[in-house]
Amino acid sequence: MPDTFGKSALLLILAMSGVQTASAVNTIEAAQANAHGIPHPAVIAHRGASFDAPESTAAAYTLARDLGADYLEMDLQRSKDGVLFALHDNSLLRTTDVAKKFPERKDSPASAFTLAELKTLDAGSWFNQSYPTRARQSYVGLPILTLDEIIDIAQGNPQHKPGLYIETKEPKQFPGIEHDLKNKLNERGWLEPATGAKAEPQVGQGKGRVILQTFEKSSLGLLQKEMPDTPKILLLWVGEDSITPKTTLSFADSGEKDKAAYYAKQQPKDQAEFIRWLDIAKTNGAIGTGPSAALTHGGDQSYADLIQPWMNKATHDKGMLVHVYTLDEPVDFKKAMAAGVDGIFTNRASELLKYFQRPAPQTVNQLLEKNGY
Ligand code: G3P
Ligand code: CA
Repeated sequence: MPDTFGKSALLLILAMSGVQTASAVNTIEAAQANAHGIPHPAVIAHRGASFDAPESTAAAYTLARDLGADYLEMDLQRSKDGVLFALHDNSLLRTTDVAKKFPERKDSPASAFTLAELKTLDAGSWFNQSYPTRARQSYVGLPILTLDEIIDIAQGNPQHKPGLYIETKEPKQFPGIEHDLKNKLNERGWLEPATGAKAEPQVGQGKGRVILQTFEKSSLGLLQKEMPDTPKILLLWVGEDSITPKTTLSFADSGEKDKAAYYAKQQPKDQAEFIRWLDIAKTNGAIGTGPSAALTHGGDQSYADLIQPWMNKATHDKGMLVHVYTLDEPVDFKKAMAAGVDGIFTNRASELLKYFQRPAPQTVNQLLEKNGY
C-alpha cells in the first residue's frame, strides 16, 4: 500500500477522473499518476518521434505531438551565452556537421558554443546518412532547438497539447541550470496549470504538464528546491554515480560480444542497494523513478534490467511511479507492462500509442508531410 495516499481515496479519484488504466493491477498507480496530472500509462516521446525524424529537432517534436504522445522528452543543456537548448550528447559530432563548420572546435562540448553558433549547424543530415530508408530531403539543415522553441511546439496544436519531460543533462557541467530552467518555465507560464484550462485539461495544460528528470541526485535535490510542486523522476541505471553493480567487471574484461549483452548481465549489488536508491529518489522529492531496461533484441539502448516485477513492486510500495527507458518494440512494451511499469520512454511514439490502443489520427508519413517534411 502506498504511504502517501489512502487506498479508498485513490480509488475515488480514479473513478471521478475517468483516467485510462493499463490493467486492474495498476489501479492504485493509475490513480496516483492522475493525482499528479500524469496519464497512465504515459507515452513519453524520447527526443521526439526520433525513430522517424532526427532527434530533438522540430520534425521529431511536431511529429510526436501530432501523433498524440503525452510528453515531449528532451535533454537540456546551456549554450556559452546562457540559452537553454535540447541536445543529448555532450559533443556535437554525432548529430551535426560541426566538424565541417567548426573543424578546430569539433571536439568541444556543445556548451562551448553560443546559440548563434549552434544555430548554424545542420542537425538533420546525419539522420539521412544513418537511416537511409527513413531519410527525407527536408531533414537536411534542421537546426538545434531552444527550450523556448520546444515549448512553442508543445503549445502549437489545439487538438493535442503534450507536456514536457525535461532532463537536466550532465548538470555538474551546468551549475545553476535548475534555477535557469525554473526561470524559463515560469516566464512561459509552465509552472502552473494553463489559465482557462478545463476541468479535464490536456496533459500540456494540467498540473502534470512538466515532469523533471535527472540521473544526478544532487540535481534532483536542486530541482526540488527550485520547483517543489513540479513532478520529478530520478533516472536509474547500474554503474557510476547510480546503483552499485554486483560485479565491477568492465565491458573489456567481460568477454561479452556487445554492450547490450554486457549490460543485460548487470545487476544491482543486492536488493538493499536497489531500495537504497528508491529512498534517495523519494527523500529528494521524486514522485517516481526512470529505470533502464534490457531489450529483447539488444541494441545500443539496451541496459540492465531494472524493471523486474519485484523492483516495480518495491517502487510502488513506496508510493512512487515507474517510467522505463527506452522501449521501441511491442515485445518489450508487453513485457514492461506485465512487469508493472506506469509509463514508457520510446523513440517510436506511433507504435506505443498503437499498442495502448490510442492510435494516431494520421500515419507518420501523413503527419510529416502535413508539417512540411
Ligand atoms: O531520460 C530518459 C532516457 O532518455 C535516459 O537516457 O541517455 O537517452 O537520456 P538518455
Ligand atoms: Ca534523456
